[in-house]
Amino acid sequence: MAGPTLKPLSPGATIGILGGGQLGRMTALAAAQLGYRCHIYCPEADAPATQVTSLTSIADYTDEAALADFAEAVDVVTYEFENVPFVAAATLAQHVPVRPGPEVLRICQNRLREKDFCRAAEVPTTRFAPIASARDLHERVAEFGRPCVLKTAELGYDGKGQISVDRDTDLDTAWAQVAEAAATTGVILEDFVDFRLEVSVIVARGLDGARRTYVPVENQHKNHILDQTIVPARISEKVADKAEGIARHLAEKIGLVGLLAIEMFITADERVLVNELAPRPHNSGHWTLDAAVTSQFEQVVRAIAGLPLGAADRLADAVMKNLLGEEAAAAQAAWSDPYVKLHLYGKGEARPGRKMGHTTKLIRR
Ligand SMILES: Nc1ncnc2c1ncn2[C@@H]1O[C@H](COP(=O)(O)OP(=O)(O)O)[C@@H](O)[C@H]1O
Ligand SMILES: [Mg+2]
Repeated sequence: MAGPTLKPLSPGATIGILGGGQLGRMTALAAAQLGYRCHIYCPEADAPATQVTSLTSIADYTDEAALADFAEAVDVVTYEFENVPFVAAATLAQHVPVRPGPEVLRICQNRLREKDFCRAAEVPTTRFAPIASARDLHERVAEFGRPCVLKTAELGYDGKGQISVDRDTDLDTAWAQVAEAAATTGVILEDFVDFRLEVSVIVARGLDGARRTYVPVENQHKNHILDQTIVPARISEKVADKAEGIARHLAEKIGLVGLLAIEMFITADERVLVNELAPRPHNSGHWTLDAAVTSQFEQVVRAIAGLPLGAADRLADAVMKNLLGEEAAAAQAAWSDPYVKLHLYGKGEARPGRKMGHTTKLIRR
């Protein structure tokens, strides 16, 4: 039954995006192509996304008056990172559709909830346990064995908030580093996965429940930050099918409208273990801008606008390379290869590890 909520957003309507980073910037550009306006809500002035649209709210995520004005100004809300306070999304949802829904955000904000959700959906993850005290830590490390990984449950990214527990790690020192997080948002201990490689799958789900997955891609990290994505991942068809099946299943179970990026570990014996979920466009999907029928940014706009999804087929193999910090200076080299596409995010200061842009090298099939 096509109720009024299934009516697609009309051209000229306004999409609200919480967050002002490069993911919001590329989403806003895709939205503009489809005839939509974007209104960016973020705390920082001159953030990458605010440079490509004239509608902005520069305010804190807890500013209730600014959130109310924003809800008034937009037709649908999405977010470009998952550390938006849950209450902001929940408050907005009382006035305007928030897609993916606040409950999806709540799960994906917290590593413990993410893994509990996977467990309930019967999707394998690495072994894990919540850690609430130094004593818990001692007991669980004895149970899991070393190495293992201690992580804050929330607000970590690019390896921040993670401590490897190796042979020589003093557990009381490690605990001291996370005790404060344990008291507020929680702490998780994970088995260390001796993976063969890391992959991710991005799945889109429309308002009508249709799903499309992008091909599994292989992610190589340096210092815990994504360095390169190889498209497609060098895995067997069987493993690729399994990974895509997991992505479709999780999208359905979580009631997704929008995009869900799923990071997975592939072990030597071809097990697929879910590591993290992100309810938004993902760095490992940037290749889709240049090498897929529908980019992940157009796809998220289609999904949240209630339009039919576009095909997710890849048009070429590709290698996406992040330009971190000073590497952006080397971006000029990209011009010497006519099959390299350069994307820069408009960020001023090239701090170490900061994502300044990326290149995608297209490889003809
Ligand atoms: N349990 C684990 N076993 C092995 N490597 C891990 C584990 N958890 C994280 N890593 C490594 O650290 C990287 C970053 O960790 P992740 O959990 O994805 O957090 P984030 O991306 O939010 O920083 C992963 O991509 C992986 O390379
Ligand atoms: Mg990750």
